[in-house]
Amino acid sequence: MPDGFRDKAALVTGGGSGIGRATCLAFAREGARVAVADVDLEGAEETVRLMDGVGGRGVALQVDVTKAGEVAALVDKVVEEFGKLDCAFNNAGIGGEVMNTHEYPEDDWDRVLDVNLKGVWLCMKYEIPVMLRQGGGAIVNTASIYGLGGSAGYIAYNAAKHGVVGVTRTAALEYAEVGVRVNAVCPGYILTPMTIPGIEANPELERKMVSQTPMGRMGKPGEIAEAVVWLCSDAASFVTGHTMTSDGGYMAQ
Ligand code: NAI
Repeated sequence: MPDGFRDKAALVTGGGSGIGRATCLAFAREGARVAVADVDLEGAEETVRLMDGVGGRGVALQVDVTKAGEVAALVDKVVEEFGKLDCAFNNAGIGGEVMNTHEYPEDDWDRVLDVNLKGVWLCMKYEIPVMLRQGGGAIVNTASIYGLGGSAGYIAYNAAKHGVVGVTRTAALEYAEVGVRVNAVCPGYILTPMTIPGIEANPELERKMVSQTPMGRMGKPGEIAEAVVWLCSDAASFVTGHTMTSDGGYMAQ
C-alpha cells in the first residue's frame, strides 16, 4: 500500500460500524487523520478508541446524513479540526424492508432513498467545495452489487444503490478536470451488523448468500476497506467514475 496518507485528512460516514469502521481503521493504519461520522455517536466513539489502538488520530462526530444542515456542519467541523479534507468515504446506509415491489411500504422507500442516495449526494455537495478550494481530493461512495443488477425483495435499496452509481459517474465527469476523483465501491455480501442479525435469525440466509458467491464465503469489512483506501490513494490517480466490485466474484456471473 502506498505511503501517501501521512498528511491526509479523511471523513468516513457510517464510521461507527461494519465497513465504515474497518475503513477508518485502515486509513488510521496508513497514517491519515480520520473524522468518524455516524448518527450513532457511541459507535463512532468506539471506532476512535479502536483507532487509538493502532496509533491512529481521529475524532468522532455525530451526523444524520439525510439532513443538509447537519452534513454542512459536519464538513465545517472536519475542516476546523484538520484544516482540510482530502478523502471522503460516503458510506452510511441502511437495508430497509425485504418485500416485493407491490407490497413495499412507501415510508420505507422514502427512508432508504433518503439515507442511501440523498445522503451520498448531500455529502458530496458539501465536501466538493472544500476539495475545489484545495485543488483536489478523492471521494468514494458505497454502492453495492445490488447497484449493478436486480435484487428481488429489495426495490428501494436497489433503486438507491443504482442511484449511487449514477451520481458517482456524474460527479466524476463534473470534476475530472479539476482534480476531484469520484468512485464507488460495490461490496458483495459482507459480514457486518447489517447482515449478521438476519443470518443469526435465519441461517438459511447465509447459505443463500454464500452459494451466490463464487468464492463460497462472505466477505470481511476489511476487504472493502482496502479497496476504498486504494481508490483514495495517489496510486489511483487516473481512476475516476469507476465502480469497483469487491464481491468474491458475484458480478462475474
Ligand atoms: P452497518 O449497519 O454495520 O453500518 C452502517 C452505519 O451507517 C451504522 O453505523 C449506522 O449507524 C450508520 N447510519 C445509518 N443511517 C445513518 C444516517 N442517517 N446518518 C449517518 N449514519 C447513518 O452496515 P455496513 O454493512 O457496514 O454498511 C455500510 C455500507 O455498505 C452501507 O451503505 C451498505 O448499504 C453497504 N453495503 C453493505 C453490504 C453488506 O453485505 N454488509 C453489501 C453491499 C453494500
